[in-house]
Amino acid sequence: MTKTLALHGGPAVIDRPLAPFRAMGPEEEAAAARVVRSGVLSAYIGAPGELFMGGKEVRAFEEKAADYFGVKHALGVNSWTSGLIAEVGALDIEPGDEIITTPWTMSATAMAILHWNAIPVFADIDRASFNIDPASVAALVTERTKAILAVDIFGQTANVPALRQIADEHGLKLLGDTAQAPGALMDGGKAGTGYDIGGFSLNYHKHIHCGEGGILVTNDEGYARRMALIRNHAESVIQPSSRADLANMIGYNFRMGEIEAAIASVQLDKLAERVADRQRVAAELNAGLGALEELTTPHVAPGATHVYYVYGCRLDLEALGVTRAALVEALKAEGVPGLMPGYQTIHRLPIFTQRCAYGTGGFPWSLREDRSFAYGAGTCPVAEELHDASFLGLSICLNQLPSADVAQIVAAFEKVWANLDALRA
Ligand SMILES: Cc1ncc(COP(=O)(O)O)c(C=O)c1O
Repeated sequence: MTKTLALHGGPAVIDRPLAPFRAMGPEEEAAAARVVRSGVLSAYIGAPGELFMGGKEVRAFEEKAADYFGVKHALGVNSWTSGLIAEVGALDIEPGDEIITTPWTMSATAMAILHWNAIPVFADIDRASFNIDPASVAALVTERTKAILAVDIFGQTANVPALRQIADEHGLKLLGDTAQAPGALMDGGKAGTGYDIGGFSLNYHKHIHCGEGGILVTNDEGYARRMALIRNHAESVIQPSSRADLANMIGYNFRMGEIEAAIASVQLDKLAERVADRQRVAAELNAGLGALEELTTPHVAPGATHVYYVYGCRLDLEALGVTRAALVEALKAEGVPGLMPGYQTIHRLPIFTQRCAYGTGGFPWSLREDRSFAYGAGTCPVAEELHDASFLGLSICLNQLPSADVAQIVAAFEKVWANLDALRA
């Protein structure tokens, strides 16, 4: 006889909290202590001169990151949100320009666009990979489109070759947000490096982290220079030779500290090992959950590798005959951690549906009375359906997950699946 669901009073499969993901070890401790002993926690100066590019830990980390990712320029920043703002600012953006992006992402991706008074236009996503759908992007290009900002969501790269083709056809720049996929590959190339500018988050829970931080990557010297300026109070440093040089050189303090750089450098050495571990977890989940009809395990595109920040599944709710909410409640009661019923549909946020970002007068949309912009329900039907109904993810970045714990997660799913009738009742 199948055991009673924990939801209905039976014993839970997982009856203790699973160990949280822990990335810090003695090497990070030694790196941080070395910097503290040096007394120099940040060496940046927001004025022309050698220290405009930061201290020795920041520069050593950037050199190592450029080498690791195989790019000409890597720049450390104090968060990936800052990195996104710098990468959009590096382009020749005029207020009212359009940038096409995905709604299935963290809000920072779209906010970086709005930040420069450009207008985010949301393309729908691909149902299998959850990444931006190139066909939807192509249909949204207008005269004022300046760039595509793709996200390598959950640990797998977007379809960069198809996006590059659209960008080339229309003279657009291709930007990337690889916050969730450092170490992933596509046709042998490293995720994040196929964009004109891309980069990674180093916040807590990312594959490698230093508390808060980010890395920008590009092969373009001009972009690297503009981003270095934006990072460090550009307006007081730049000597423009044209108005175009000066445009968007409103500087910030996006500078990474020396302790963060020293820790991030140690973490970079561990990235390959961490990716391999996430892939082990996913392979064990695939072996168990793959047997459950009505659940589709993550799709990995041909030629790609997935580094599993999130293990994203789809449910066949009709065949299951229960709601996602009922399933999640039952799985949670069995002790499954990190359940994600749905993810994000940024295009439905009030900031867009009410066109209320800067003040109350509808700026920057008010700059574009020539064009209406579609936001809200019905604009990105695939993303909306997944978010509202059939997507079920596991945030596997939150826990350590040795094989014995993965086996228990699988057992919890099997138990709930064996008791679907009890959930239907
Ligand atoms: C897709 C995506 N973009 C941007 C960010 C922002 O990165 P950060 O937290 O380093 O600012 C995140 C962080 O979770 C993210 O997942």
